[in-house]
Amino acid sequence: MKILIINGPNLNLLGSREPETYGEQTFAEFFQNLKQKFSEVDLESYQSNIEGEIIDKLQSADKNFDGIILNAAAYTHTSVGIGDAVKAIATPVVEVHISNTSAREEFRHKSFIAANAKGVILGFGLQSYELAVLSFTKA
Ligand code: DQA
Repeated sequence: MKILIINGPNLNLLGSREPETYGEQTFAEFFQNLKQKFSEVDLESYQSNIEGEIIDKLQSADKNFDGIILNAAAYTHTSVGIGDAVKAIATPVVEVHISNTSAREEFRHKSFIAANAKGVILGFGLQSYELAVLSFTKA
């Protein structure tokens, strides 16, 4: 099984960015552990701060992966384009967030992705990604 994780803007700063909200682990550290935990899964990760690059990645990943785990970060709440790309592709997308966006500012309650996602996982810290992997492997 092949799964791609796509991370959006500012998630390259995990570990140092607002640690009280996003924790102290870098994504690279977490991803290394995740790959060990799911050694039977072919896991890849990609990060971009640029909206169009995320759309390009979703399009090029389509049909080349069994599942996509998408944390579009701030673009979740603003990007019609990323939402449309999720709708346009055949590969199922699970939306994840590290923080519980529903418990934060009002503007974070809106998601342009959720309606076209297979499901949404939020608020479990970096474990949200692990739960998303499980949603594909245990399905
Ligand atoms: C986030 C939540 C978003 O509202 C925020 O803009 C992020 C990270 C999360 O994983 O909790 O950058 O997607």
